[in-house]
Amino acid sequence: MPYGPAGRMAKTTRTESMLGEYLRGNTQEVTMSQLRNVLWTHQGLSLPHNVTKETLDVLPGFQIRDDDVVVASYPKTGTNWLIEIVVKILRASGKTEETVDTMTVGAMELRRPTAPQPGYVKLAELPSPRLLITHLPIQFAPKGISKPQNKVKVLVPMRNPKDTAVSMFHFSKEIIPMLGGNADDLRWEDFVQDYSAGIVPYGDFCDHVSGWWQMRDDPHFLFLKYEDMKKDLLSAVKTIVTFLEVDLDESTVKGIAEASTFNNMKPDLDNAAAAERRHIARKGIVGDWKNYFSTEESEAFDAWYEKKLGGAGLTFDFE
Ligand code: A3P
Repeated sequence: MPYGPAGRMAKTTRTESMLGEYLRGNTQEVTMSQLRNVLWTHQGLSLPHNVTKETLDVLPGFQIRDDDVVVASYPKTGTNWLIEIVVKILRASGKTEETVDTMTVGAMELRRPTAPQPGYVKLAELPSPRLLITHLPIQFAPKGISKPQNKVKVLVPMRNPKDTAVSMFHFSKEIIPMLGGNADDLRWEDFVQDYSAGIVPYGDFCDHVSGWWQMRDDPHFLFLKYEDMKKDLLSAVKTIVTFLEVDLDESTVKGIAEASTFNNMKPDLDNAAAAERRHIARKGIVGDWKNYFSTEESEAFDAWYEKKLGGAGLTFDFE
């Protein structure tokens, strides 16, 4: 059965001028109709303009602490889901009294619209334990994250590329109005082409995930697939608790899993302090891609990621 175009042009109503003003200040002659027009390229990597070259030059030397917990992800693979779970675990085990809002500064390499400096500057001042987030491919990440030592923990969420693309498409449609553009001009048909050409924030999905996946046998790393978390969230939370080496009783772990379902987490995300996080909780399902990909697009996408990821021993569920 051909996959339908249902819901392709979901309208966006929210506008947030502060982010628009900030990003407009960092772009030149931007035609707002396409996501690719709000990106720049660094050593072949497409990046949003609020990640600067100065940051990329200093970040490899960023000082990692022994008890840092890191979430390293390709955007839209479940980053915020994971950080909400990690903070719940750290709080329940008494390791922190902070909340996600006070503990996180967004991805460490980018400057949030309301922040005077990129996230990593603020992180250097925060007390331990810290929760670091990065969307950078492994070769651009701080060395203390790409080659962790001692007790550093790095969690890597992963998600099938089709649902990840759909999620990014929608998130982009939220972001473009913030830039003062018309989101209806971002067409799925164009986006899906750009996506498999890597002309999206943080570049090519396959290159990104296969880069981090090289670390799969390193005990500092935990890889978690979105689809597995959807199937059995309690097991995923148990796995994270064990990985973080904290002691929690069974009922606390169950309570964290229960509080971390999409429906239970959505109100917190919708009311997050950071404006961009309020756009995160959309559908939270596996298989929404079928509402967007035509048969031809789906086959081309399959050929693309199978060619690029086929030898990596990395597979995804699409249902
Ligand atoms: P959708 O856009 O498909 O709904 P990220 O945090 O990396 O930006 O990922 C965002 C995606 O994770 C969104 O996917 C969002 O809905 C989903 N998500 C967030 N919290 C979730 C939860 N508790 N359960 C399932 N999915 C969740």
